[in-house]
Amino acid sequence: MDYFEITGGNRLRGTLTVNGSKNAALPIMAASILTDGETVLKGVPRLEDVKHLSGLLEKLGVNVWRGENGDLHLKVEDEMNCHAEYELVRKMRASVCVMGPLLAKRKRAQVSLPGGCNIGDRPIDLHVSGMQQLGAESELLSGDVHLKAKKLKGNVVFLGGPFGSTVLGTANVMMAAVLAEGTTVIECAACEPEVTDLANYLNACGAHISGQGTPRITIEGVRELHGCEYTVVPDRIEAGTFMIAAAITNGDVKIANCRLDHLLALVDRLKAVGVIVERSGDYVQVSSSRRLEPISVTTQPYPGFPTDLQAQIMTLLCLADGNSIITEKIFPDRFVHVAELNRMGARLRKEGPTVIVEGVKNLVGAPVMASDLRASAALVLAGLVAKGKTKLSRVYHIDRGYEKIEERLNAVGADIKRLPE
Ligand code: EPU
Repeated sequence: MDYFEITGGNRLRGTLTVNGSKNAALPIMAASILTDGETVLKGVPRLEDVKHLSGLLEKLGVNVWRGENGDLHLKVEDEMNCHAEYELVRKMRASVCVMGPLLAKRKRAQVSLPGGCNIGDRPIDLHVSGMQQLGAESELLSGDVHLKAKKLKGNVVFLGGPFGSTVLGTANVMMAAVLAEGTTVIECAACEPEVTDLANYLNACGAHISGQGTPRITIEGVRELHGCEYTVVPDRIEAGTFMIAAAITNGDVKIANCRLDHLLALVDRLKAVGVIVERSGDYVQVSSSRRLEPISVTTQPYPGFPTDLQAQIMTLLCLADGNSIITEKIFPDRFVHVAELNRMGARLRKEGPTVIVEGVKNLVGAPVMASDLRASAALVLAGLVAKGKTKLSRVYHIDRGYEKIEERLNAVGADIKRLPE
């Protein structure tokens, strides 16, 4: 198991290029189950999560390979197996997004319930109810959801839950509905750019989907889908993490392949903190050279402030000149980074789904670890600015979502060593 040794204090300067989105690539990879031809995906990052899902897809009869130029190819070879086993689903919750494609294409799906994870309870009741509304029968046996349907039929499917819509639930229902008979309307659909990207991929394969990016998505069922070549949308969460890295180090960084229109809530909050974010040609330039103002941040479904950047902005606000307030409205328990940041000299007090951040003059390096991807990213950011050395253990969590983050940050001035434990 590797750890990072991060020596803090360097200002970041230079250009960082954002990869294709992990959370767009994973459901699109699963959607290849629906197609009869070959899918060629451009821009899929080399991540542990991509490897895990490739492993699951291989078990489900999909041949997955990288071309010489790095493109990811997927082609269904065998449609017998319909079981996403616990071992794989437990490792990576996004595995549940094979449910819709299996049910639509192979008429049955057996998906292990993912169970809790480090960011809290993560039920899939909305996914299952969506499948039922399209006509599937479902049964829970030994921890697995068994779904079957001779024929799926279009319907109006409402996907609102206690915390808003569901991203992967919307993806699952959309993938099930593309081959259903008739028209499906998803109400209270997730509006996240990753859902839009999945719809655009499915349309490139011959689906008829409209309204993606809004709370009402309409899907006219088609008989079959063909393969296609598709470029995955840039990762807004990676871009946002890089923006905060620039801000926290008082740096001056150009970010390439960055969709600023997907990051308006972050840009709004960064500007309120006093960070300068400007579009310059093909880049987004982020710089910061003055004191940081305290602010309040509330995570919300898109286009609100993303929960996947909550931990990272908390690290930035640790160094603001006053008290900030962060409220988590998507995953109210997503705070494993709080205790670790406190080990580095932060002053954070958690009260229910809210954290009060008392700004401090500096953070101090310490041994830390985090059992969640975005929390680990937040600790890397803390290490970049802390006095002395930070030892961040269990970096496999960060490898799940950021490709070679240490090499890329080092190229713009960071000092991060990957070392074996
Ligand atoms: N929820 C339900 N019932 C359901 C599904 C969700 O109550 O059937 C609740 C969840 O417990 C949560 C809220 O609805 O409170 C939203 O969860 P959602 O289903 O939207 O999350 P997800 O689709 O499982 C994706 C991303 C997460 C990201 C969330 C929210 C992928 C692979 N995962 O998860 O990304 O935090 O949307 O934007 O796309 C990450 O990349 O680090 C990550 C965790």
